Amino acid sequence: MSEHVIEVSVNGQRVRAHVEARRTLGDFLRIDAGFTGTHLGCEHGVCGACTVIVDGLAVRSCLMLAVQADGAAVTTIEGLAEPDGTLSPVQQAMRDNHALQCGFCTPGVVCTMTAITANDAQPTEDQMIAAMSGHICRCTGYQGIRRAIRQLTGTAQPAGHDHGDHA
Ligand code: FES
Ligand code: FES
Repeated sequence: MSEHVIEVSVNGQRVRAHVEARRTLGDFLRIDAGFTGTHLGCEHGVCGACTVIVDGLAVRSCLMLAVQADGAAVTTIEGLAEPDGTLSPVQQAMRDNHALQCGFCTPGVVCTMTAITANDAQPTEDQMIAAMSGHICRCTGYQGIRRAIRQLTGTAQPAGHDHGDHA
């Protein structure tokens, strides 16, 4: 099996490693780089749990090879809060709306939301919900995530007005 030397910026930190050609970005992040906040679920590109941000785009790290990320800037869930622990707007909205649940799929959800709201982009509620269609939450608790989206898009309803929605 051929090995390659890659150098990737992960959350602003340069990581250099020898990886097999078949190593996925997800395994590289977790095993070689130690960023275990990225969770692998299906490993087939279906569930979205493994989503990270590569050069500004939300990417499924189970479908991208580590060698393809050579020279790229990768952001994982560990890289979203400020150094002093202040949560990012997306993280805060998820926390405010009890959208974390068991937390397994949450890093991927947060990375997708972060990518589509980055650089002052202002997606609509419908656009954000459409982006979430690429994420499967095994807790099946999408209500909190929808409330977080409403908070981020400024379309939050007063408490008690959002019952009965089904994402
Ligand atoms: S683990 Fe990558 S999409 Fe499911
Ligand atoms: S938070 Fe549990 S699977 Fe989504």
